Amino acid sequence: MRVCVIGTGYVGLVTGVCLAHIGHDVVCVDNNEEKVKLMQSGQSPIFEPGLSELMQGAIQSQRIHFTSDLGAGVSHGDILFIAVGTPPLPTGESDTRYVEAVARGIGEHLNGGYKVIVNKSTVPIGSGDWVRMLVLDGVAERQKELVAAGGGTATEITADFDVVSNPEFLREGCAIYDTFNPDRIVLGSNGQRAISMMKELYAPIVSREFAEDKSLPTVPVLVTDLSSAEMIKYAANAFLATKISFINEVANICDRVGADVTQVAKGIGLDSRIGNKFLQAGIGWGGSCFPKDVSALIHTADDYGYEAQLLKSAVSVNQRQRLLAVEKLQQVLKILKGKTVGLLGLTFKPDTDDMRDAPALDIIEQLHRLGTKVKAFDPLVSQSGMRHGLSNVLVETDPERLADGCDALVLVTDWKQFRSLDFAKMATLMTTPIIIDGRNFLDQDVVEKAGFRYVGIGRRG
Ligand code: UDX
Repeated sequence: MRVCVIGTGYVGLVTGVCLAHIGHDVVCVDNNEEKVKLMQSGQSPIFEPGLSELMQGAIQSQRIHFTSDLGAGVSHGDILFIAVGTPPLPTGESDTRYVEAVARGIGEHLNGGYKVIVNKSTVPIGSGDWVRMLVLDGVAERQKELVAAGGGTATEITADFDVVSNPEFLREGCAIYDTFNPDRIVLGSNGQRAISMMKELYAPIVSREFAEDKSLPTVPVLVTDLSSAEMIKYAANAFLATKISFINEVANICDRVGADVTQVAKGIGLDSRIGNKFLQAGIGWGGSCFPKDVSALIHTADDYGYEAQLLKSAVSVNQRQRLLAVEKLQQVLKILKGKTVGLLGLTFKPDTDDMRDAPALDIIEQLHRLGTKVKAFDPLVSQSGMRHGLSNVLVETDPERLADGCDALVLVTDWKQFRSLDFAKMATLMTTPIIIDGRNFLDQDVVEKAGFRYVGIGRRG
């Protein structure tokens, strides 16, 4: 099928490349010319495992093209994905100005055949109808221009389209895997024709042709109305974020009563109604989705005069949890002023270079406020030389240099390679070998045998 993806950020690029990989003919549009040139040369502007390889394959087989010309993209695609950013405003609302510009732009270039316009960006509830209105505004604008150019007459533009909400549930670091192995596909629309085209688009994924385990039953496709599809995205993220805040609250109580939250999580996770995923206690959630989506849902509820108390609590538990690492440092080191603390990991989770709303940023700010010197090592951030939000942080190039001279380490991100560090060597380099395991990720025995004092979250340490 002929597809156009507008916006080549994280969601857009992954969607475009994966759709090309399963055989569709894709044009990706971005208004950033430099980015377009970079992608045309086969380079991915974002780090995501496996993405560059798939992208290069799709370029070679001519199934994907990149352009900054929105008009060319709109005339190419029978299905047009809007995948531009909806960053949070200081109020917690989503900033939808990019969606607005793209929807109008699509309208200005529509002419001829039937199109499906898909909201892939996480947009506020009600955006489906709003996008329809904006597209029609764009069409009217173009019609006016044509009439003016034609001296008062012009043929009527035909604008035959439906809007679909098709939220994504991709995790950073596993986005390609998640695209080919989804738990479900959600399609919200009022148009039957649009739904059948979307089903045809996703048929190879639904049939598990590209799945890791091809013997699994076909992927469930939930067809619903626009607002319910939009709400599913928010509710899924809000539920997962709340689940983590829940286990973090339990961890804090474990700390006080002397229980071990990792055992508690195992024990409750075996109940199939609860499930064992997203029960890893630690210094809390971050990233580009959970914080933004939970705030946006709270804000939407507010708009309708409803106070989302549970969600507000999930956010405040998370805020407090980030600073728990610093509290634990105070418990063991007492005075932090003049001490040196090394952070193992900076990104909000492993296998990504994303620092958006990462707990590390709040930890750094608090340590600086307390007069502590902060050093850090992160497998990707250290390598890429990114320094965003990291002023006054000495970013080291390897874990041993990080340990050198530190009074304590804090494991902030659960990068797999941190399990196999040379802890014995690191302990000898430190002033006091103390480690706060902010993700309950390390093997306590191994670390203690290497000479460290180990402190976990909710783990009697
Ligand atoms: C999330 C959703 O999982 C995905 O479906 C949605 O499309 C986008 O938001 P992502 O932000 O990539 O994906 O990260 P995820 O793996 O879900 O982790 C989010 C945060 O929660 C991370 O900071 C992670 O460290 C934290 N987390 C996760 C925990 O603290 N404990 C857990 O048990 C799981």
